[in-house]
Amino acid sequence: MDTVSADTPEQIQLPIGPSGAPEMPAQVTPPPSTEPEASDKPAQSARAGAPRGATPPAAASAPRPAPAAPARSEDRIPARIVLALQGVTKSYPNGRVALRGVDLTVPDGDFVFLVGPSGAGKSTVIKLLIREEIPTKGSVLLDGRDLARIKRREVPKIRRKIGIVFQDFKLLPNLTVRQNVAFALEVIGTPHREIASAVDRSLRVVGLVNQADQLPSQLSGGEQQRTAIARALVHNPRLFIADEPTGNLDPLISWEIIQLLLRINEMGVTVLMATHNAEVVTAVRKRVVALEDGRIVRDQTAAAYEREA
Ligand SMILES: Nc1ncnc2c1ncn2[C@@H]1O[C@H](COP(=O)(O)OP(=O)(O)O)[C@@H](O)[C@H]1O
Ligand SMILES: [Mg+2]
Repeated sequence: MDTVSADTPEQIQLPIGPSGAPEMPAQVTPPPSTEPEASDKPAQSARAGAPRGATPPAAASAPRPAPAAPARSEDRIPARIVLALQGVTKSYPNGRVALRGVDLTVPDGDFVFLVGPSGAGKSTVIKLLIREEIPTKGSVLLDGRDLARIKRREVPKIRRKIGIVFQDFKLLPNLTVRQNVAFALEVIGTPHREIASAVDRSLRVVGLVNQADQLPSQLSGGEQQRTAIARALVHNPRLFIADEPTGNLDPLISWEIIQLLLRINEMGVTVLMATHNAEVVTAVRKRVVALEDGRIVRDQTAAAYEREA
């Protein structure tokens, strides 16, 4: 599959601190044009100079006043839809109903926090998106394709649009950092000559160049998660999914991981992150979709973890 890494080799070239670690108060300037399908996507440089982190939405520093537009912090033109859930209900074989009539649309370039108590259905949304599960009712569309209708042999191709990380990293213990990342390309048949440079780029993005030859057991938790992120990025996905990625990490390291996901988002990758981490969600002020008992109870832009008065 030469499209995989030939896609946009430059996509993940970003400035990274000399230590290799993503700097906390990162004020990153995204590369000029990072999106594979640049033709149908507006340039997204509006936020380039905007500070991130616990600051108010970038709208304040936007060059022109936003008219009666909804309070979306990014001033980009309506983009293509990356994923959509339409009237999705999911019952598991044991009768457990995990999702009840969920509608959710995520445009290209969005950053979405999926929040809610344990058991609310967050991971089920993610399992539907990677087609690990099929909805009982309704449809799940990824890049316009109804995932229930694609042929089995097409599933790997569709999955390549997605990069995913989990709470428990899921690294292969006997492979080094570099080998773990390379493995993701090997299994999809990327030509050998393209693998090394793609892996290097991915390791630079997450700041692990100096740890490339270490085993997962020789890494901190944060470094293990960054390895998983490098692996999830190496095939240039357009949707990056993280299911409780900071669940096993302490607050400082969690914050570094979030900064990294924000940076990946600025590279043009749509990000969906399921999380319990209220502090991070509230500080970052992105779109928040809240699930409770299988229903979306809130969908708010530039929001806090909890509903605000
Ligand atoms: N494979 C499964 N079989 C049966 N029930 C499941 C399965 N996976 C999840 N559930 C149930 O579905 C509900 C939603 O779970 P989940 O999507 O994992 O929620 P969350 O990620 O928000 O904690 C829970 O009640 C859970 O017990
Ligand atoms: Mg979960």
